[in-house]
This record gives sequence, C-alpha cells and structure tokens, in this order.
Amino acid sequence: MSEKEIDEVSGIETTGHEWDGIKELNNPLPRWWLWTFYGCIIWALGYTVLYPAWPLLSSATTGVLGYSSRADLAAKLVTAKAAQGDLLSRIETTEVADIVGNEELARFARAGGRSAFKVYCSQCHGTGAEGAAGYPNLNDDDWLWGGTVDQIYATISHGVRSTTDADTRFNEMPNFGTDALLTNTEIDTVAKQIASLSGIEGGVASPEGAQLFADNCAACHGDTGTGNAELGGPSLADPIWLYGGTLDAIKAQVQKPRHGMMPAWSTKLGDPTVKQLAVYVHGLGGGQ
Ligand code: HEC
Ligand code: HEC
Repeated sequence: MSEKEIDEVSGIETTGHEWDGIKELNNPLPRWWLWTFYGCIIWALGYTVLYPAWPLLSSATTGVLGYSSRADLAAKLVTAKAAQGDLLSRIETTEVADIVGNEELARFARAGGRSAFKVYCSQCHGTGAEGAAGYPNLNDDDWLWGGTVDQIYATISHGVRSTTDADTRFNEMPNFGTDALLTNTEIDTVAKQIASLSGIEGGVASPEGAQLFADNCAACHGDTGTGNAELGGPSLADPIWLYGGTLDAIKAQVQKPRHGMMPAWSTKLGDPTVKQLAVYVHGLGGGQ
C-alpha cells in the first residue's frame, strides 16, 4: 500500500511509504547537504582527470598531471640517499667527540649505530645491550675500559684481547692460583677482603687481606678497588660483576682468571660505522 497524502500534523506531503503505521514525510534535502554532494561529484570528476584513476586493460589512465606514486617514492629515495651520503661523509671526517656535540650528526649516528648494534653486537651484549655473564652491560656507568666516547670508540675499533689487531685493548690478570703466585689461604683471605668491599655474603675485611690486595691487585684494580680503566681492571667495590658476585666466583677468578675477548670491529665494519656504534653505546645512558 503506497499512497501519497498530506500529513495532518506537519502539513507536509508523505512519500507514501508506511511501516506499521509510521509514515515518511517527503521533506526536501537540506540545501547545504545537497551542495556538498554536488561539490564532491565535481571534485571527483576533476580528480579523475588530473590523477591516475580509471582502470584500463593493462594499466590505468595516467591523469593530465602525470603523477605516479612510484616516481614520487623514487624521487624521495634519491633525496634521502643524497642527504644520508652527505651525513655519512661528515661522520667520516668528524672526530667522534665532536659528533656527540653536534645534534644533527649525533641523531643520525645513534640511529645508524642502533641498527648496526642489532646485527653485530646483540649476540654477545644482548639486544638491549644489557649484557650477560662474561659480556658487559653497556647501559650502566660501570666501564672496564672507560666510558668517554673516545674510550668506547677505541674499545670497539680495536677490540679487547683481539688476536688480529695490534692496537687491541690488552691486559691479563695473572693466574694467582694455577701459577702458584698465592697460596690457597692467601687467595681465601684476599677474596674475602674483596667481597667485603661490596657487602657480599662471606666477605671479611682484615689487615692481611688489605696487604695482599695492595701488593697483588691494586696495580690493576686501583688502590681502593674501584678499578683502572687504563688497564681494563674492573671495579671490585661495586655490585656489578662480569663473572658473578659471590665469594666462590671471586675465588675462582683469582685461582684461574678468565680473560674476556671482543673482536676488533674497525677492519670489519669500517670507521664510520664504528663511530656511529660508539656514539650509540655512549648515548645508552652510561656514557661519561
Ligand atoms: C663475541 C662476543 C662479542 C661481540 C660480538 C661483541 N662484543 Fe663487545 N665485548 C665482548 C666482551 C667479552 C667484552 C668484555 C671484554 C673484557 O673482558 O674486557 C666486550 C666489551 C665491550 C665494550 C667495553 C665495555 C667496557 O665496560 O669497557 C664495548 C664498548 C663493546 N664491547 C661494544 C661492542 C660493540 C659495539 C659490538 C658490536 C660491533 C660488540 N661489542 C660486539 C664481547 C663481544
Ligand atoms: C695485571 C692486572 C691484574 C692484576 C694484578 C689483578 N687483576 Fe683482577 N682482573 C684484571 C682484569 C683485566 C680483569 C677483567 C678480566 C676480563 O675482563 O675478562 C680482572 C678481573 C677480576 C675479577 C672479576 C671481576 C668481575 O667483575 O667479575 C676479580 C674478582 C679480580 N680480578 C680479582 C683480583 C684479585 C683479588 C687480584 C689480586 C690478587 C687481582 N684481581 C689482580 C686484571 C688484574
């Protein structure tokens, strides 16, 4: 049943549609809506003339502006490459400490360093550079070989105890136990002395322990045990340990020390990448 009639209440003609006694008034569309609608149609027609739009058999209409998103991307890539090439060559010629001081270069270097770190360093140091037993955490301000950006740069460039780089960081803790430089009792006493420095369970400070430390250990670990970055001697007075912070781990290291090894990277990755890695590592939070 569809029959047009005049609605009694509003005096407006109905469309003749009726659902369960509810009838639809035949109001004209609002003018603003209509004009917006026409505007959209005109804009769409203009768009399809100017830009690629209508699908053809094997391609599409190209549009009179000749725009192509592929060409646009290619152009952007060329500009980005050029900008990067410029920054890379500036990194190559800038001292690493000056890169840190230059906001634009530092930002670029940190981004490049972050991605290189994921590829070359995370196996040993962890994806977040948090380290693991035997592999130092690079986020904290505890450094074996020094935490200025120049020192970090030198460590990464030449490695630690590398067999292929003559300028490598090198120093080896003596085999106090296996080479019989100290007796077992002496090792026990000096280990307890060290353990006492950072409050490790079983640690006991004693005059004998202090003397043994001064005679045998202070040269590499510092007079107060806080380390010596020139020689890669870790601080023994803080709660950060490379090989474990228990009395047993300390004794084991004095008996027969381990010597951590890190590859030299400058020959493998090239100097600009090593500089970016140094800036990145320095910026992780512990840089000095
Ligand atoms: C094969 C494992 C390994 C890889 C890969 C590796 N490292 Fe290391 N790294 C070590 C070890 C082990 C040490 C500690 C050396 C020591 O005992 O003195 C170290 C030390 C360091 C230090 C000195 C930390 C300090 O406290 O002074 C820095 C900086 C460093 N690595 C950065 C890097 C960067 C950057 C990369 C990637 C290019 C990398 N490492 C890749 C094993 C590795
Ligand atoms: C010739 C230098 C040298 C002397 C002397 C020396 N050390 Fe070390 N020591 C080192 C180095 C270098 C390391 C770090 C080893 C590594 O990076 O793999 C180290 C590491 C350690 C560690 C492990 C630290 C950690 O974070 O796990 C302990 C403990 C330690 N030494 C105790 C001693 C004691 C005790 C003496 C004296 C009896 C001593 N050292 C004498 C160079 C030395």
